[in-house]
Amino acid sequence: MQNNMQNNLINWYHQYHRQFPWRETENPYFIWISEIMLQQTTTEAVIPYFNRFLTTFPTITDLATASLEDVYKLWEGLGYYRRAKHIHETAKIIVHQYNGIFPNTHKEILALKGIGPYTAGAICSIAYHMPTPAIDGNVLRIISRQYLLKDNIAETKTQKHITSIVAELLMGYDASAFNQGLMDLGATICRPLNPKCDQCPIQKTCLAYQNNQQKVLPINIKN
Ligand code: ADE
Repeated sequence: MQNNMQNNLINWYHQYHRQFPWRETENPYFIWISEIMLQQTTTEAVIPYFNRFLTTFPTITDLATASLEDVYKLWEGLGYYRRAKHIHETAKIIVHQYNGIFPNTHKEILALKGIGPYTAGAICSIAYHMPTPAIDGNVLRIISRQYLLKDNIAETKTQKHITSIVAELLMGYDASAFNQGLMDLGATICRPLNPKCDQCPIQKTCLAYQNNQQKVLPINIKN
């Protein structure tokens, strides 16, 4: 096996990944609910909500036939209640248009309410192992450091460039472990301030580390 960035990240993920209930399943419905909850809420806060929600509504049909009030009740305390409304509407659409089976193409998933490019990429890679990038602030930071990119990550052009880099890195690798490896690396090691480079599984290939620029990057200037 090649000793490259992808394998180093994926092996590290398999060995040290954070344990979450949504990592014990590949049920696309469960992955979808977790990714919606994680859009504006921290992992620790999501755990009990995720467990309660899926115990109450174990299938998409259970969710679709529930009342909106019951869905809101399970969402209480998570905030951003529009997410709960979108989930409920989408469950009904999935029952009617897809026979209650969560769609399995990137195009169909991206078209669902409340699902943008990041969430679509996360669901497709985690539930179906499709080689889809899931680009958020963590990934923009990690890739800027890894390749010593001095472009402003607040710009769409830079985000597109980094998306294409990740799309290329993913080819031939398990996108689920790779994308979730980036999530864990960004949350625990490649932090915005004081990154823990001594513990980093991809330190060897990191150009920012080699040039001692890890505290300067990424460049993030919002106009
Ligand atoms: N943030 C968004 N999606 C996540 C996931 N699947 N695991 C951990 N953190 C996340």
